[in-house]
Amino acid sequence: MCGIVGYTGNKKAKDILISGLKNLEYRGYDSAGICLQENNELLIFKDKGRIKNLITIIDGLSPNAISGIGHTRWATHGEPNQINSHPHTDCKNSIAIVHNGIIENYTEIKKFLESKGHIFKSETDSEVISHLIEEFYEGDFKEAFLNMLKIIEGAYAILAMDKNTPNTIIGARKGSPLILGIGNNENFLVSDPSAIVGYTANVVYLDDGEVVIIKNNEFEILDPVSKKSINKKVEHISWSLKEISKDGYPDFMLKEIFEQQQTIKNAFRGRISIENYDVKLGGLKLTPKDIQDIQRVFFISCGTSWHAGIYAKYVMEDLSRIISEHEYASEFRYRNPLIKEDDIFFFISQSGETADTLAALKLVKQLNGRVYGITNVVGSSIAREAGQGVYTHAGPEIGVASTKAFTSQLVVTLLIALYFGKFRKTVPQDKLIKIIEDLNKLPDIVENFLKKNIEILKSISFKYKDISNALYLGRGLNFPIALEGALKLKEISYIHAEGYPAAEMKHGPIALIDKNFPVFVIATRELYEKVISNIEEVKARGAKVVAIANEGDKKITKLADDVIFVPELEYHVQPIINVIPLQLIAYYIASFKGKDVDKPRNLAKSVTVE
Ligand code: AGP
Ligand code: GLU
Repeated sequence: MCGIVGYTGNKKAKDILISGLKNLEYRGYDSAGICLQENNELLIFKDKGRIKNLITIIDGLSPNAISGIGHTRWATHGEPNQINSHPHTDCKNSIAIVHNGIIENYTEIKKFLESKGHIFKSETDSEVISHLIEEFYEGDFKEAFLNMLKIIEGAYAILAMDKNTPNTIIGARKGSPLILGIGNNENFLVSDPSAIVGYTANVVYLDDGEVVIIKNNEFEILDPVSKKSINKKVEHISWSLKEISKDGYPDFMLKEIFEQQQTIKNAFRGRISIENYDVKLGGLKLTPKDIQDIQRVFFISCGTSWHAGIYAKYVMEDLSRIISEHEYASEFRYRNPLIKEDDIFFFISQSGETADTLAALKLVKQLNGRVYGITNVVGSSIAREAGQGVYTHAGPEIGVASTKAFTSQLVVTLLIALYFGKFRKTVPQDKLIKIIEDLNKLPDIVENFLKKNIEILKSISFKYKDISNALYLGRGLNFPIALEGALKLKEISYIHAEGYPAAEMKHGPIALIDKNFPVFVIATRELYEKVISNIEEVKARGAKVVAIANEGDKKITKLADDVIFVPELEYHVQPIINVIPLQLIAYYIASFKGKDVDKPRNLAKSVTVE
């Protein structure tokens, strides 16, 4: 949720804050605002809606401020309007703050501060931060800030400025991401690296409890407990401007769908050998004996990553013969789970910042469980908290609807299952060879599929763009693909869609089916005859059927109203291409309906609040 950016240095802060917020807008877009410090005054500009509204109100202004903070919001407390936009100030407009997260005890704090005479302007939880700093302020901004931190509870990444402490920004994080960017005579504090690509590649990933102070070209990081200065490792981000730009595509989502011909390769590059049919994974720190002794594997995640977790469970149990589970992080963390020492836990997260997934990981660590991250952002909170795991290497995913990260998660979890199966000797050599050969071919197959099928996908999408509901059906490894296809459609076109195991449809959802309730069915080779029966069942109720089927399938064309053909691949690899037509159908339907596919309403790219 939300993006925050702070700058101190020798350039005009306004331009840097705006460009940073533009690159962070995918994290939340209910409102946007900046605070500039000039001549010992704090200038606040903020408005409801997209950043372009903010740009309009500051157009023509050329403040010389060389320090400032900015925020693009995903509202949790208080409707998305101008007064609830960040930055928020204290009673005297001397302190300004921006905040990502939720202050869970804000009600009590607000009541206390109102009893002390503070006047609140907004309905947000965040505003208590600026008034608390004011309450503690006796001339020492840092001291007041540290005292404020002792009171607030919940999740936060905070940036604060004081008009009497020139060109100084103090930041802190707990549960929400915050990164220090170290430039040439300038410093940045941002939610993620996309805000500083092009300015600096030198970053420090801050950890929970740490406080950071930037002032012109100086910075200081304080230890969570002693609050004494500490040194932290400076790391280097490899993101390029090209990666965080649309690069000629109309939007990020279409670019990222087309990038899959490359990102699928990136997910297995250096990890499979086509010569001797081997799988190598470096980041797991597990000996062959450790792998042989594993009794249960858990995949814990949210949203699209939870769909990847279902696929992961199926392939792990099938290939390594280890009992495997997939769970919603938000459910797992509160159900008092039983953890055993020979279990291992994978936390799948594109952003590496999802609050529930991070909290579930911390719970397993507290219970002395073994934790591994499967993330797409190097240095993300989940990656660092796990300390080990496998990166998906899909590159920055800006579109709120996850696409390339999902197929990379499928590749990585398949590789982990093969890797475990290798040491447990549970994968027949012929199956291993076929999987590795088809994985290796997959990038070219995806490229050819995308070249050949865009027009038919557009025409099918146009035909179904006015539907109000849809059912997505799949069996086995195509069940999570059906779920993912339904999620893509609903989150960017706002059409109600449900994914279901194809056989399960008879236990209720079939009651929904009539000529106005189309059914999207994945009917590739896996359990084909069973799926054909399910298609017959919905056809008998008048449904229109759109099928994803294997090339050469003659039977399906007599049954389904529309068919998209995909090449036939090995059973475990097939689902990875099966999802791509469903991504594109969702994309084109939403586009025909004029929706903002990159920034769907009510959503944000990274859910860093519970
Ligand atoms: C997917 O299209 C959604 N944007 C959402 O479900 C997302 O997958 C979920 O919030 C999990 O995010 P993560 O992978 O970054 O943890
Ligand atoms: N809870 C704060 C609000 O609703 C911050 C939300 C966010 O992270 O954008 O304004």
